[in-house]
Amino acid sequence: MQTVLIAEDVEVVYPNGARALHPTRLSIEAGQFVVLLGASGAGKSTLLRALNGLVQPSAGRVVVPGLGSLEQPRLLHTHRRRTGMVFQQHHLIGRLSVLANVLMGRLGHYRSLSTLLPWSRADKERALAALERVDLLEHALRRADELSGGQQQRVGIARALVQQPRLLLADEPVASLDPATAERVLSLLHAICKADGLTAVVSLHQVPFARRFADRIVGLAAGRVLFDGAPAELSEPVLNALYGVATAVQSDHAIPTPASVRPPLSYVTEVPS
Ligand SMILES: Nc1ncnc2c1ncn2[C@@H]1O[C@H](COP(=O)(O)OP(=O)(O)OP(=O)(O)O)[C@@H](O)[C@H]1O
Ligand SMILES: [Mg+2]
Repeated sequence: MQTVLIAEDVEVVYPNGARALHPTRLSIEAGQFVVLLGASGAGKSTLLRALNGLVQPSAGRVVVPGLGSLEQPRLLHTHRRRTGMVFQQHHLIGRLSVLANVLMGRLGHYRSLSTLLPWSRADKERALAALERVDLLEHALRRADELSGGQQQRVGIARALVQQPRLLLADEPVASLDPATAERVLSLLHAICKADGLTAVVSLHQVPFARRFADRIVGLAAGRVLFDGAPAELSEPVLNALYGVATAVQSDHAIPTPASVRPPLSYVTEVPS
């Protein structure tokens, strides 16, 4: 199997002294849908951010086979261009159209803003094709902040796809959505990754979703990998170690509602004009 990314003993200590990640070794294989599980504060976001160079490891390094280590600035730029990110809060620009938001995914392909405006026909076609894949073509010209949370998250997915990424990193992509919408959005994300052979690392709070969609589950607790295996190997004792007894028992029967996971967050990030 081809390895697309390696965390080599990556450790993250934040400036305030918080040790979010103890030295962690992890290889991500091409085409896999990897789900990160773990209680709040376990280190999922920190690990995802380190894999994209958004957080600098205090020790160890992240290596892209065939490219090199992310410590090299030029390589980091290339890696980020090839890596699509999907966030819980979408980070859409509400006052812009859905299409304009998706086109933002092309930014990494240009050296300066002046070379990309107006957007090329090829880029617009890519963006429209991405919107069609997430079933939002008919909404392309609407303001992004007029869409529902689930639709906005699909715009976020289209924006990542238009980048033509080799790797997709998604940090709780469905945590702000109601359970039925979350299921639909995650199902869509999973189907696209499988259709394109796209490697994905996705953090989730819903154990049933992890069981259903993951090829591999990595379970974190207090900044350490406690479990790394197939969904079928995710046993009750492992869940107890990751979440504590009550949550583990509950997790087999119910998908936690977003409200039980974390407080609601605004869907749209506005930027000043
Ligand atoms: N910017 C930061 N500065 C200092 N400490 C941080 C920072 N970000 C996270 N931490 C700490 O690092 C640890 C891991 O946090 P992280 O956000 O990676 O966890 P998580 O698993 O993503 O949690 P959640 O499920 O709540 O999103 C926590 O103890 C957190 O308080
Ligand atoms: Mg997080």
